[in-house]
Amino acid sequence: MKETWVRVAAEGDVPEGGTLQARLGSEPVCLYKIDGRVYATHDTCTHGRASLADGTVRGEEIECALHKGRFHIPSGKAVAVPCVRNVRTYAVKLEDGAVWLDGGC
Ligand code: FES
Repeated sequence: MKETWVRVAAEGDVPEGGTLQARLGSEPVCLYKIDGRVYATHDTCTHGRASLADGTVRGEEIECALHKGRFHIPSGKAVAVPCVRNVRTYAVKLEDGAVWLDGGC
């Protein structure tokens, strides 16, 4: 698998304990910072059309704003109904003060 790192945001723009919506090419992604570590998932909830960036971070989980389903942020695993399909996660690296995601497939 080929790695293709893409700069998606300044590291300082990702709030601790919060979310930041960004774009990886045409894909909306959601960035999170938990205990200083940055994670990334696809931004669209797998249950509906909601943006996970509008949700609430609870520990290592993101709670969708629309129907309160939840995902484990580091793994993308759906952990609370109505979400049953996992959300895609992305490899993250921090370099030159920026957040880079692996957009390879
Ligand atoms: Fe996210 Fe329904 S759209 S839980």
